[in-house]
Amino acid sequence: MTAAYLTFFGLNECPFSKEIADADLWLPPSKQELVDELVAALADRESVLLVGEPGVGKTCVLRALRQRLPAQGFRLTYCHNATLGRRDFYRQLCLALGLAPSATAAALFFAVSAHVADLAGERVHPVFLLDEAHLLHQDTLEHLHILLNYQWDSRALLSLILVGLPELRDRLTLRHNRSLYSRIHRRFVVGALTPDDSAEYLRFRLHRAGCDREVFASDAVALLHEATAGALRDLDRLATAALREATRRKKRLVERDLVLRLLESEQREVTP
Ligand SMILES: Nc1ncnc2c1ncn2[C@@H]1O[C@H](COP(=O)(O)OP(=O)(O)O)[C@@H](O)[C@H]1O
Ligand SMILES: [Mg+2]
Repeated sequence: MTAAYLTFFGLNECPFSKEIADADLWLPPSKQELVDELVAALADRESVLLVGEPGVGKTCVLRALRQRLPAQGFRLTYCHNATLGRRDFYRQLCLALGLAPSATAAALFFAVSAHVADLAGERVHPVFLLDEAHLLHQDTLEHLHILLNYQWDSRALLSLILVGLPELRDRLTLRHNRSLYSRIHRRFVVGALTPDDSAEYLRFRLHRAGCDREVFASDAVALLHEATAGALRDLDRLATAALREATRRKKRLVERDLVLRLLESEQREVTP
C-alpha cells in the first residue's frame, strides 16, 4: 500500500528510506573528500580507522567507496558481524572470500592468509571492511594485526578498514592494542552535519524522490538539525514523521511549529 504522504507530496518513493542505491548517495564536499582519502589510502595499501557517532553516515561512506573503487584491482569483503569470537570471525571471513571454512582456528587463519597472498599474485588488493568494529571481542582485535603482518612485516598485502563508534578509537589507543593501532595508517572521524548540510541533505533526498519544491520551511529545517545533532539517521526518521504529520493536517509546507509538536510528542512517548 502506498503511504498517504507519498501521494500528498507527489513523491515517487520514500525520500528518507535507507534503501538508497550506492550511485545515488549524497556526497557533499566533506564526504567526497573522505571518500577520496579512502581511495588514496587503499591505493597505497594502507589500513584505515573510521569513527563517528551513530547515524552520521559511516556505512554509507563505505558504500560510496565501493562505488568509487575500480572493480578490478580491489576485492572488498564487508563484515558487520563483529560480535563473533575469533574462530567464528575467521570462519565468516573464509565464507566471504569464497573459501571452505576449515575446522580449527589455525587452519582458518592459514586459509585466509594463503588466499590473501594468492590475490597479491593476481595483483588484486584485498580490503577487509569491518563495520561496527567497536563490538569486536578483544581476542579478535588482538589477532587482527597478525593479518596485517606478511612476510616478516615487510609487505602490505591487505588493507583493513575498521569502522565504529568513537569508543573504538579509545579502545585502540589502549596500550595492549598498540600493535594493531600502529598498523592503522590513517584515522578519520565522520563528523556531524552542519546546518547547511542538513538543509542540503533534505533537499537532495526529496529531489531524488521526485519533489523539487520547498517542503520544509527554513526554520523547520533549523529545528530538525538542532534536534538531530547532525545525525542523518535521526534526520531521516524525524523528516519522515514530519511528512506524515503534515499530510494528516493537509499542510503542503512543513513549518517549525509542526516539528516542535512532533518533538514534544516524541518526548512524551519516552518519558513515563
Ligand atoms: N551519503 C549519504 N547519502 C544518502 N543518505 C545517507 C548518507 N549517509 C547517511 N545517509 C542516511 O542516513 C542513514 C544512516 O547512515 P549510516 O551510514 O547507516 O550511518 P552510520 O553507519 O554512521 O550509523 C542511512 O540509512 C541513510 O538513509
Ligand atoms: Mg553503520
